[in-house]
Amino acid sequence: MGAGISASDSVGPPVGARVRLSSNESPFGPSPAAVDAAQRALVEAHRYPDDQSITLRQAIASREDVAFDHIAVGTGSAALLMDAVPHFCSVGDEVLAFAHSFIVYRLAAANAGATYVEVEDSGPASGDADGYGRDVDALLAAITDATRIILIDNPGNPTGTHLTGEQLRALVDGVPDHITIGIDEAYHHFATGQRDYATVAELGLSHPRLLTMRTFSKAYALAGLRVGYVTGPAELIAPLDARRPRFNVTGSAQAAAIASLDDTDHLTATIEGTLASRERMAAGLRELGVPFTDGLGNFLTVECGTDAGPIVEAYGSHGVGVRGLVPYRMTEQFRATVGTAEETEAFLTASATVLADVPSRR
Ligand SMILES: Cc1ncc(COP(=O)(O)O)c(C=O)c1O
Repeated sequence: MGAGISASDSVGPPVGARVRLSSNESPFGPSPAAVDAAQRALVEAHRYPDDQSITLRQAIASREDVAFDHIAVGTGSAALLMDAVPHFCSVGDEVLAFAHSFIVYRLAAANAGATYVEVEDSGPASGDADGYGRDVDALLAAITDATRIILIDNPGNPTGTHLTGEQLRALVDGVPDHITIGIDEAYHHFATGQRDYATVAELGLSHPRLLTMRTFSKAYALAGLRVGYVTGPAELIAPLDARRPRFNVTGSAQAAAIASLDDTDHLTATIEGTLASRERMAAGLRELGVPFTDGLGNFLTVECGTDAGPIVEAYGSHGVGVRGLVPYRMTEQFRATVGTAEETEAFLTASATVLADVPSRR
């Protein structure tokens, strides 16, 4: 990343991995109703989609209990972030975030010619203790006259760390009114109700420039269709929406997203399956004595105590794809997405060999 990572660098999955735990996808697949809706929409593929994504925005509005004009949709929340940062910042302005935040924040700042300012976290996990804890006071102290936007992934990727509801409230309350705050809740479904986590909506936070980003790529399992959304005050949403390419979200993607919102049974099963696999993965790593951060996303971040590159490769030779984190300046860590029960067992079986001699092991 410091070494000049750019948006054009490849982030694809490892070739040939039988068990694909590298991209924080849902292993449980999309709702059958979403697949059906997307297929039906394909018949209209010769037509441009609804440019305004009206039915989808109405569905999100009713789900989120926000007004229709408080929502913009994009081709994934990453695309919305790539638009939002250059919208609010230009050369010389500062984008403020915690260290080891979602990489798109840095890429978006680079697109804007803005300076990306990171506030250090507590560093790697060790022993039984989670790593990468965040200090809200330190973040507030890092605000300068040049700060234009603060971006917080909650829970964070790739660390899984989270701010509690109390911390999030203190953060939002402490940010001056002229600075935009983007709270990225890509993984909120996997965090709800745990360890004092709370969403912006649950807390009822108010700030004149508070945006919340969410995605259909994680718990709704539509990563391949690219749909995300941002909610916030209409005065901020309208100019942001004006930046998007016309007809940005395809008809099949809109249809699938709408059907996904309705299929609450599938969502519940996905969340339960994810949490069960996350617990199993955590228990297996604990048994191995390898430190990791037991985060609230759909993944765990593991400490190797040595260069993680060969370890990621060794997983590959077991047919298991995990993610090295060099672009995050985390050279001794990797991230493993939780899989189905079988995939999680395959990961743990491989781990018994691959992690047998890592220096981080107690
Ligand atoms: C924290 C965070 N935000 C946003 C996204 C982007 O999701 P998408 O562009 O697929 O909506 C991701 C994807 O991994 C993520 O980890």
